[in-house]
Amino acid sequence: MKAFNRRLVIQPGYVATFALVMAATAGTAAPGGALKDAFKEHFPIGTAVNRNMVVGGAGFRRSAEQNEKDIALVKEQFNQITAENDMKWQLIHPREGADGYEFGPADAFVNFGSSNKMTVVGHTLVWHSQTPNWVFAGTNPAPVVTNAAPLAAANTNAPGTNRFGPGRFGGGFGRYNGPRASRDELLQRMRDHIHTVVGRYKGKVKSWDVVNEALADGNGTNVLRSSLWLEIIGPDFIAKAFQYAHEADPKAILRYNDYGLENAAKRKKLITLIKSLQAQTVPVHAIGSQAHLNVSITFETMDQTLAEIATLGLPIHITELDVNTAAGGQRGFGAEITNNTATTQGGLISDADRKLTDAYAGIFRAFLKHRDSVKMVTFWGANDANSWRGQGKPLLFDGNNQPKPAFDGVIAEAKKAAN
Ligand code: G3I
Repeated sequence: MKAFNRRLVIQPGYVATFALVMAATAGTAAPGGALKDAFKEHFPIGTAVNRNMVVGGAGFRRSAEQNEKDIALVKEQFNQITAENDMKWQLIHPREGADGYEFGPADAFVNFGSSNKMTVVGHTLVWHSQTPNWVFAGTNPAPVVTNAAPLAAANTNAPGTNRFGPGRFGGGFGRYNGPRASRDELLQRMRDHIHTVVGRYKGKVKSWDVVNEALADGNGTNVLRSSLWLEIIGPDFIAKAFQYAHEADPKAILRYNDYGLENAAKRKKLITLIKSLQAQTVPVHAIGSQAHLNVSITFETMDQTLAEIATLGLPIHITELDVNTAAGGQRGFGAEITNNTATTQGGLISDADRKLTDAYAGIFRAFLKHRDSVKMVTFWGANDANSWRGQGKPLLFDGNNQPKPAFDGVIAEAKKAAN
């Protein structure tokens, strides 16, 4: 496909037929070529893949036929994949104990990557979200929740003034409120989980999102968000997770992954956290910057974001890139699944395609400027139809796998960098 060529001298009717046939069998007939080739001198270009893309068949969003085309698009355009959901604790380890794992979909994901010679990324080991209740359950009574109570854990090695509290979703949204495991029990469960999952894919999964979204949002003084990991274990749950992952696969690249790092206050918290981990020689090897953005993003903001993160001296992986063009999503750079409905409401902004193109061009110009630090760029989905925020049409390919003007804008930046 990448060689699909406008210069073929054939009757126009044949060209149209040929293009249709090619578009039906492969992902797209993008005349711009493939993203992975355009950036091959700089960084891998990845995508999140959902279960159907690695096992085939129809999904809840796509028919079997559409899914075949999505798979072809993934193979054509990308050389790195991340499991969008199937390695999350809730899905890979739904029940307690050694028999409580469901490896089938994650195995299929890793095999898909290996057989297509793609770099495989694991997402994610420790997250406040999508973790089953049994992980946190035990016999210790849950504390009485009060936002004024200081953090009880003795080990406060990450600076900040974290407090007990329900957080934004406390008492609701899947947060377990029953009697709790002890610190030691939870650490043991975390260690077993990480050793089992990372150990199974040792040598096959190149990078892991070890800890996901542990930073607090907003301008407050809390560095870490309220979570059951923090409340039960204490702030060193992060260091422990990295330590266990490193034991399980000493060669894996271990990432700390978060969203909203384009926001100066959150970025400051990232730098505080990572410096604290580095001072303790915790094996954190890369920063994952999710980059769930909207069209208000500029080259200047991305430039400054990358320059500041780079001061940590670690590679930067862009892990979940998308750019929301829904009217409801133009205020912040968040990634909370609970906020997603609001951020995809209101229809598309005016002139969405042009603004999306400008935004992506600025973003990639910044990635290329910082290519000494930016070592991977992953889109959070291959096309708009599969995106978690598909109503915001945030990706480079539409629901028919056709390249959008933003695709051309990104390819143009690659060409400029090559000159
Ligand atoms: O698979 C079921 C399907 O059978 C069912 O019919 C359907 C009904 O709604 O739900 C499907 O499961 C959904 C799953 O995505 C697969 O699409 C879950 O309800 C839904 O909660 C889940 O959302 C995922 C979300 O994380 C929560 O885990 C999104 O796909 C995924 O894109 C999103 O990704 C996160 C990253 O992991 C971390 N950073 C933020 C990013 C966006 O929120």
